[in-house]
Amino acid sequence: MTIRIYIPRDAAALALGAEKVVEAMAGEIAARGLDATIVRNGSRGMHWLEPLVEVETAGGRVAYGPVKASDVASLLDAGLISGGAHPLCLGKTEEIPFLKRQTRLTFARCGVIDPLSLEDYRAHRGLLGLERAIAMQPAAIVAEVTESGLRGRGGAGFPTGIKWKTVLEARGPRKYIVCNADEGDSGTFADRMIMEGDPFVLIEGMAIAGIATGATKGYIYTRSEYPHAIAVMSAAIEIARAAGVLGASVLGSAHAFDMEVRTGAGAYVCGEETSLLNSLEGKRGLVRAKPPLPAHKGLFDRPTVINNVISLASVPVILDKGAGYYRDFGMGRSRGTIPLQIAGNVKHGGLFETAFGLTLGEIVDEIGGGTASARPVKAVQVGGPLGAYFPRALFDTPFDYEAFAARDGLIGHAGIVVFDDTADMLKQARFAMEFCAVESCGKCTPCRIGSTRGVEVADRIAAGIEPEKNRELLADLCNTMKFGSLCALGGFTPYPVMSAMTHFPEDFSPVPVVEAAE
Ligand SMILES: Cc1cc2nc3c(=O)[nH]c(=O)nc-3n(C[C@H](O)[C@H](O)[C@H](O)COP(=O)(O)O)c2cc1C
Ligand code: SF4
Repeated sequence: MTIRIYIPRDAAALALGAEKVVEAMAGEIAARGLDATIVRNGSRGMHWLEPLVEVETAGGRVAYGPVKASDVASLLDAGLISGGAHPLCLGKTEEIPFLKRQTRLTFARCGVIDPLSLEDYRAHRGLLGLERAIAMQPAAIVAEVTESGLRGRGGAGFPTGIKWKTVLEARGPRKYIVCNADEGDSGTFADRMIMEGDPFVLIEGMAIAGIATGATKGYIYTRSEYPHAIAVMSAAIEIARAAGVLGASVLGSAHAFDMEVRTGAGAYVCGEETSLLNSLEGKRGLVRAKPPLPAHKGLFDRPTVINNVISLASVPVILDKGAGYYRDFGMGRSRGTIPLQIAGNVKHGGLFETAFGLTLGEIVDEIGGGTASARPVKAVQVGGPLGAYFPRALFDTPFDYEAFAARDGLIGHAGIVVFDDTADMLKQARFAMEFCAVESCGKCTPCRIGSTRGVEVADRIAAGIEPEKNRELLADLCNTMKFGSLCALGGFTPYPVMSAMTHFPEDFSPVPVVEAAE
């Protein structure tokens, strides 16, 4: 039997030299006359082990990593084909502690299957959710998603079923499903990993959303910085269409649904749903005032579901295994699983899917293994550039929408960026204001002007100019931005700023001598 050797084509693996490893492996297989084939899978999400090479053995998959092209010959000499021992051998993939501790529902197939093999997808429970949805009434599908407790994974945590119900009940000759794959948050890569590693799950989720709400057309909006994801997604759509998963009759049913990928140039604000819609319509990425909600008047003024990649990619497992199965994971009002993306100055960075409820300390210290620099952790920014900085004193916060909100934070798209004790939190606060100034769409004054004033005030604090007065001014400015901005870009920038100032006051008094002299 032909041996299958897996080498990821995921962008993180490619960045770390996967292509060279493939070349070397293909050369050695040919030279040695081995009966082996290379499968280009997605990533398992253990970035420090990429490129991770796996081989299928009778006892399961065995992993080696991180592998360089120059390691390939010695790996084959050591009997990689049969899972032989080698210093780079990590044992059975599923037994690697970082993977073993996870609950993979949305990412169950990512890194496991050949992303562009519909056969492989089906062999791993693919399309069962869609098949079940086809046999149900739209309202029953919506009820199932509502019952699962799934909330939007793009940032706001809005219940997905309620959004779908609004679109189902909205009247219109045409409705749309828009997948938000802009993924602008710092330290996040879950959307990209799904699109590159298991694109059919997103297609399946969008088709289910279409059938549930009466939408027949879907768009995936992503950014030009994701060329690999765009290529895999586009190829997967073609394959799905040719196989009758998409098209005039989805899986032979009376439902029509088709979709395509659209690419933006890459602006943070184009991840905001109304700005995204403008961009998708070919207009400038300017935020629209709400109401009307996109669910009533969205793309081209038609009722539109806008959901994040992970929200949509979590729907197939909910339909396949039932709302109760999904709902049983998690805590409080945060049901199911969340793909944590651990990044920054951390030893074990990568994607970790788990039920809600782990504490921030467990995530950073146990799963992430502390900092890569081996220095103490000073702060962790959770939820992207608009998320708060958490000090170690708040590491007992469980990963849960409400628990983070109660501590003036947010979980956003579940990006976790770790900083060691060399981080200067005043600089981070200034950066938050600068980021907002650069990315602001310019529609409202508190954000457009406030962010630039915020940078200036932070600079004055850093220069030791009237620090107490300027700290008060910064807090006042944050208050104005928080309550006066039209969207969360201006409205949430105060979170990183205020959390930095509240939890790390010492960094905001860089020249105490000046203050004492006042
Ligand atoms: C400035 C800004 C940027 C955003 N960027 C993204 C993004 O990159 N991806 C995303 O899914 N949601 C993003 N959102 C949230 C979207 O507006 C929206 O809530 C989301 O796409 C809804 O999908 P969900 O309910 O599945 O989370 C952003 C919001 C704001 C204010
Ligand atoms: S808060 Fe900023 S990004 Fe949002 S609408 Fe106002 S100016 Fe635009």
